[in-house]
Amino acid sequence: MLVLGVESSCDDTAAAVLKDGRTILSNIVSSQDQVHGPYGGVVPELASRQHIQSVLPIVDGALKNAGVTLKDIDGIAVTYGPGLVGSLLVGLSLVKGMSFRTGIPYVGVNHLEAHLLAIHLEYDVAFPYIALLASGGHTLLYSVRGVGDYLFLGGTRDDAAGEAYDKVAKMMGLGYPGGRPIDNLAKSGNPKAVRFPRAKLKKSAYEFSFSGIKTSVWHYLKAEGEERWKNHQADIAASFQEAVVDMLVNPTIKAATANAIGRIVLSGGVAANSRLRAKMKERAEAEGLQVFCPAPKFCTDNAAMIALTGNHWLERGRRDDFRLNADADLTL
Ligand code: KG4
Ligand code: ZN
Repeated sequence: MLVLGVESSCDDTAAAVLKDGRTILSNIVSSQDQVHGPYGGVVPELASRQHIQSVLPIVDGALKNAGVTLKDIDGIAVTYGPGLVGSLLVGLSLVKGMSFRTGIPYVGVNHLEAHLLAIHLEYDVAFPYIALLASGGHTLLYSVRGVGDYLFLGGTRDDAAGEAYDKVAKMMGLGYPGGRPIDNLAKSGNPKAVRFPRAKLKKSAYEFSFSGIKTSVWHYLKAEGEERWKNHQADIAASFQEAVVDMLVNPTIKAATANAIGRIVLSGGVAANSRLRAKMKERAEAEGLQVFCPAPKFCTDNAAMIALTGNHWLERGRRDDFRLNADADLTL
């Protein structure tokens, strides 16, 4: 079965063709970083306008790169939430039009579910597994018991982990999105140079909080003054990152051991972080747990994971009709 995947939930326009739920024939992502960079964050109206320009060339490019035409496609999968409503509507409307015109069935895909299943693009990971989903908009912990069977364990009280990276990068003038520049800068810094506080959460063992660390970095930079902190910015980046990584690793390891689940899967843009991947593996190995990390291009937003998730549902006979609407606040 050939499935075309389309993703336009935030600021990346992406399309992919997947064969038999396994083989990626094409996978294209058009990033809008240049458009939003000057604003230090995604500007929703600009994102929608950029999607409307890119979406057809990207879908066309994905079909061409796969060496197929629309006639060969058996099903189409498109993200219908959560995300920015104006962005979601671009991909969803296009796919509905394609399905209406050609009679090819389509399914709406939950973007969060796609991140949780993205690992299957590369690895045969048995269910159940503990999945940490850390992106620009979400920080969530799930027990993934099968396709469509997700037990919510906990999430962030305030900011998402990626949001903290992006805000701190903005304070330090490192550009947008901020995850990768901080990750790179931190490689030459001392993670113990500044002791930023880790959030202490009593309510649930699986809760996260990142607004405190963001404020701590802001106060630190202000107290130091730009001339001084610029001289040891790699140490600041490494110390900030170490605190974020600790706050992500601890609840995840706890979730795996408390639920006697031996596999941990990372997902979402922040899962591309080199220190998070290394520390999660180190801590997990000490507990006898396995960690699976998607390649960075499958951590950040992509349409291969949308096609994979759509493939599962199409195989199970699901078909969406033309009344399906975009849902900005869709949950799992
Ligand atoms: O999953 P994603 O592409 O989009 C959302 O669904 O949000 O995640 C984007 C987020 C951004 O906040 C970005 O700064 C962060 O992932 N990110 C990283 C890294 N690469 C991307 N954060 C830390 N380290 C990285 N290497
Ligand atoms: Zn995402």
